[in-house]
Amino acid sequence: MTDRKRTLSGIKPTGSPHLGNYLGMLKPALAMQATHETFYFIADYHALTSVTNPKELRENTYDLVAVFDALGMDFSRHTFFRQSDVPEVTELTWLLSCVTPMGLLERAHAYKEKRQSKEDVTHGLFAYPVLMAADILIYDSHEVPVGKDQKQHLEMTRDIAQRFNHIYGETFIVPEPRIAEVVATIPGLDGRKMSKSYDNVIPLFSSEAQLRKQVMRIVTDSKSVEEPKDPEHCNVFQIFRQFADETQREAWAKRYRAGGMGYGEIKQATFEAINEAIRKPRERYFAVREDTAQLDAILAEGGERARQVAGAVLYRARKRVGLS
Ligand code: ADP
Ligand code: TRP
Repeated sequence: MTDRKRTLSGIKPTGSPHLGNYLGMLKPALAMQATHETFYFIADYHALTSVTNPKELRENTYDLVAVFDALGMDFSRHTFFRQSDVPEVTELTWLLSCVTPMGLLERAHAYKEKRQSKEDVTHGLFAYPVLMAADILIYDSHEVPVGKDQKQHLEMTRDIAQRFNHIYGETFIVPEPRIAEVVATIPGLDGRKMSKSYDNVIPLFSSEAQLRKQVMRIVTDSKSVEEPKDPEHCNVFQIFRQFADETQREAWAKRYRAGGMGYGEIKQATFEAINEAIRKPRERYFAVREDTAQLDAILAEGGERARQVAGAVLYRARKRVGLS
């Protein structure tokens, strides 16, 4: 296990995970258990930049533990934890803040978007990328599997690590992003990026009836059944392709181009494909989600393991800057 590369990723407890989270992050990250030493965590400190209801934060956190369990996270061999169970990360955030230029943070997409829409921006949101850099660097991570929207954050992490190493000497591993390019960005019901912030998501685990209803709501163009259609520019097909094999993909793409196929048909096929893929994990999800004592035990064990690694790396960084 120890000669394996270490992969780390986080997900915020800001609502039920959706198909975009699943395809962009959860599925590829969980597959890496076979080849890597994995550190995955629930980014609850980060969630505080948007979630202000304590009960919601706790419930969302349990949801995520159950999701990882249902999708096959092996808690005994890998490290799964809650970000805030390792408060060392906030101390490292401060050390990194002191080498992070304001200009770097001012260029962050999330921050710029908020400013442009004239929403209030907190210091927490502004400093978000520094905390994220600390998350990654404090576990000596080699690789970080995330969706494409996190690319800029990873570039910032690399930048911050390099600056620190330059000023204080080699301290941190400069991590590599692992972006599932084929998945790119999964569109939501309205065609924009599927995101909790746009309220356009298909939840990963809901009832079969709800899943069906959501898929039927995906926006398409208004071409008639007879007209030929373009699968590459169809939101439904972008989701369908993720759950289909090569043969199915080609067969349906051909039907799009030939005309004579209505969007209702491909929506039904998409619903069936998703439903089949998540049937077993969904059952497990609803079973384990009830047992919060067991979910707490999983977090306690993972947190302890994570804390040992984090403590050692923080100690290294403190020494470098001249703190005792
Ligand atoms: P949201 O945008 O819904 O708030 P998060 O920011 O919590 O989602 O994202 C958690 C993980 O899921 C990240 O690695 C992110 O890149 C990935 N992800 C989120 N939305 C999508 C999407 N529409 N397509 C692909 N990956 C996504
Ligand atoms: N910012 C990430 C997101 O919104 C979540 C996250 C926090 C994360 N810390 C991280 C992802 C460290 C990878 C590594 O999805």
